[in-house]
Amino acid sequence: MAQVKGQKAKVKGQKAAASSAPSPQPPTPDPSSLITIYVMGEAYVVPKDLTIMKAMEYAGFRFIRGCGCRGGFCGACGTVFRTKDSYKLKVGLACQTVVTDGMYLTQIPFYPANKKEYDIAKEPANTQVLVRFYPEVMRCISCNSCTKICPQDIDVMGYINAAIRGDIEKVADMSFDCIMCGLCATRCPAEIVHYHVGLLARRLYGAKVAKKSAHLAERMKEIKAGKFEPGLDKLCGMDEKELSALFYDPKVRDVEP
Ligand code: SF4
Ligand code: SF4
Ligand code: FES
Repeated sequence: MAQVKGQKAKVKGQKAAASSAPSPQPPTPDPSSLITIYVMGEAYVVPKDLTIMKAMEYAGFRFIRGCGCRGGFCGACGTVFRTKDSYKLKVGLACQTVVTDGMYLTQIPFYPANKKEYDIAKEPANTQVLVRFYPEVMRCISCNSCTKICPQDIDVMGYINAAIRGDIEKVADMSFDCIMCGLCATRCPAEIVHYHVGLLARRLYGAKVAKKSAHLAERMKEIKAGKFEPGLDKLCGMDEKELSALFYDPKVRDVEP
């Protein structure tokens, strides 16, 4: 993220009200709807019902990292914060967490995690493979900090314990909703990078353990044989109006009854 203009402890619109210039200005917010947050130690006055991400943008920050989907899926916006009068260090996704008065926060747009390189085609899906790549999982002390911090409510300690047992299927299943935000790794006293363990398990599961779908194999053959090329060519040749009708017009659209 980068800050391009400041809104430090100043109500947006105040300056405009004092100016005699007739240029249009955004409406002055109701002062009772404003709160103060602290971003990396600097105070900013922002509307109280914004998410952290929107509040930071309101304050003048422009995200060049630490922001992706804005919908809680990409994991790019991990944020660490404390709330007023609380000793607890909390975390959340900036696009999902609403600001509160007196919140102190900073973002973790990148976490220098230990990620092993491998050729998934050459790795066996056996009970040792996860521990071979990530032996530090054996250092887990079952403190549960990773589970408590996960914004996806994943039983992170549970899937690390499954990794220690070599249960690839269990790790893949339990970590399925991981959005790779990296917050679990920031709290682990054993310095485990949980999400890379989960990723390896899911890759191994998908490539070597999951039952192969006969339909998928058939479809792959059809794709390789060029069965869908004419349809794609037709789509590529359409103009915007034709494409729009194809998508929205029930008379044109090919929908199931
Ligand atoms: S398991 Fe870790 S990286 Fe994945 S969503 Fe939870 S906290 Fe984020
Ligand atoms: S934070 Fe680390 S040590 Fe604690 S339970 Fe999770 S994996 Fe184990
Ligand atoms: S921006 Fe993607 S999870 Fe927040």
